[in-house]
Amino acid sequence: MNITLFFASLSPEPWVQGLQQAFPEAAVSAWVPGAPPADHAIVWAPPQQFIDEQPGLQTLFNIGAGVDALLQLRLPPSLKVVRLDDAGMSVQMAEYVCHAVIRHFREFDAYDTDTQAGKWSFRKPRSRADFAVGVMGLGVLGERVAKALQVFEFPVNGYSRSPKEVAGVRCFSGAQALPDFLAASRVLVNLMPLTPETENILNHATLSQLPQGGYVINVARGKHLVEDDLIALINKGHLAGATLDVFRTEPLPAAHPFWQHPKITVTPHTSARTLREESIAQIVGKIRTLGRGEPIQGLVDTVRGY
Ligand code: NAP
Ligand code: GLV
Repeated sequence: MNITLFFASLSPEPWVQGLQQAFPEAAVSAWVPGAPPADHAIVWAPPQQFIDEQPGLQTLFNIGAGVDALLQLRLPPSLKVVRLDDAGMSVQMAEYVCHAVIRHFREFDAYDTDTQAGKWSFRKPRSRADFAVGVMGLGVLGERVAKALQVFEFPVNGYSRSPKEVAGVRCFSGAQALPDFLAASRVLVNLMPLTPETENILNHATLSQLPQGGYVINVARGKHLVEDDLIALINKGHLAGATLDVFRTEPLPAAHPFWQHPKITVTPHTSARTLREESIAQIVGKIRTLGRGEPIQGLVDTVRGY
């Protein structure tokens, strides 16, 4: 069995070694143009040429949860596309989002400013009941985030495409429920996949439906958010601010207004990193499961887009 790897912005070498160790009976190598075709591929954002040179490819394993870059390519209809199914990402995402929500709720940025000025002053405690957090996307990551927020007793709303039930979460589903979901959520956390339906979904019309003082946390994809609309709503005082981990252009250009905006916190697409050992273990397990002719978790519906 041949396994090939291609990562757009990461050295494949430690992965080749780790996979070869975990899967001694396979021939594992990093792809170069013209390399012999493989049975399985492990990728992040490969070029079309990679796909075109793999006529016998059975499975395309993405080393991330979001497959939007893969679904831009022309893929043979028989090719199975498989996403990482948590593999250590959901706990990181829960950590990141809880940190961002709590930092905003407890006004820690303002305390930092006071500390730097040597100022000892208290702020009035805010009411948790007024800080419902709306998690947009209740999948592998969103559901974990919703559960983590409940530990801190924030009211939690959830929004998904199809109806869902998550204990303790007020669930909304479908486009017709979006206005009610937004109006009920003081903090909005985006954890939807990027698809034609969700591109630009965080725009002036939708973000205006958050309550006065709303706060936005985007940890999914930059193309969900119309960046100028967010800035306009913060500057006119409707929104209190945002924590953003993903951007329309990455790395975020040096002159981008997000960097200097006092109410926007920027991180470099790091909220839930791919963990190599966990990912290799998961992918090897899935190749073995497929080899036994059994079903696997994490198959992408390429028509639905996630
Ligand atoms: P997932 O398991 O596929 O879950 C996606 C959720 O979004 C599902 O609940 C789905 O609804 C919902 N959804 C999809 N389209 C929708 C629509 N049009 N309207 C309403 N809800 C919709 O995905 P995941 O593993 O949780 O990951 C989510 C995204 O996070 C990834 O696609 C990726 O872009 C991003 N991500 C970012 C980082 C980072 O470091 N910043 C790391 C990992 C992932 P149903 O339940 O009805 O299907
Ligand atoms: C990262 O952004 C991922 O999709 O895993």
